[in-house]
Amino acid sequence: MPASALMNVMLGAARKAGRSLARDFGEVEHLQISVKGPGNFVTAADHKAEEIIFNELSRARPGYGFIMEERGRVEGADKSHTWIVDPLDGTTNFLHGNPLFSISIGLEREGEFVAGLIYMPVLNETYTAEKGKGAFLNDRRIRVAARSNLADSLIATGIPHLGRPGQKQFVAELDVIMGAVSGVRRSGSAALDLAWTAAGRFDGYWERNLHIWDVAAGIVVLREAGGFITDPEGKPVTLESRSFLAGNESIHNDLKRLLKKVPVLAAPDAS
Ligand code: IPD
Ligand code: CA
Ligand code: CA
Ligand code: CA
Repeated sequence: MPASALMNVMLGAARKAGRSLARDFGEVEHLQISVKGPGNFVTAADHKAEEIIFNELSRARPGYGFIMEERGRVEGADKSHTWIVDPLDGTTNFLHGNPLFSISIGLEREGEFVAGLIYMPVLNETYTAEKGKGAFLNDRRIRVAARSNLADSLIATGIPHLGRPGQKQFVAELDVIMGAVSGVRRSGSAALDLAWTAAGRFDGYWERNLHIWDVAAGIVVLREAGGFITDPEGKPVTLESRSFLAGNESIHNDLKRLLKKVPVLAAPDAS
């Protein structure tokens, strides 16, 4: 299916930013790196990619607002459309020469997530979806895995690290999940985790304490691939959601049931 005008705009921005990231990926030792907090880095590569995406999308759709990881919120004249952008999801992998990183561009329209693009420049994988039009990996239609037996499933997650809250909560949840599934994986890019769940490479995914820019594109790709995504308690995702649970209908349900066995700590713990 030929890409729509909207998707062509998103593809153009992502490809240009991807070329910038791919150039910087080989030059990590020359990159300016700053520390946002313990274990939390941002590089000149993140900023350059974000600048490219901001300029390209602003030119093509003047007036749309933005929520971007590095710039934060940029209000637009058009209050009903917001781009939600993570210019480099998986900065820690990027800094270590690990090719599992992605660009994530989502579009929200009047409270709904309506388009998503996740691009992995080194792997040369582009995941795209628009509401009601299906999900694609490059030009191929993708579907979530059909597997319904939790015992056979491969589940992705994100592990809180130095300086991140929720470490005790995560260990308690992992303790329950790892005993029920055939494997747990941690890629280092939440957008990639959702894209790979949409493509059936993972059967499910859960992670707490994220931001909407990590997942906005993935929400659309996953849903258009036939998947389900809510917060871990089963509540609908909104711009304010921070924690997510995804999978095909059956795995999503089973993971939700398992996670219910783990009490949620009132205040996110730091250790
Ligand atoms: C990170 C990645 C990672 C997740 C972290 C995020 P960043 O995003 O999505 O998979 O576990 O919590 O912060 O900082 O590399 O854009
Ligand atoms: Ca970051
Ligand atoms: Ca991110
Ligand atoms: Ca990022």
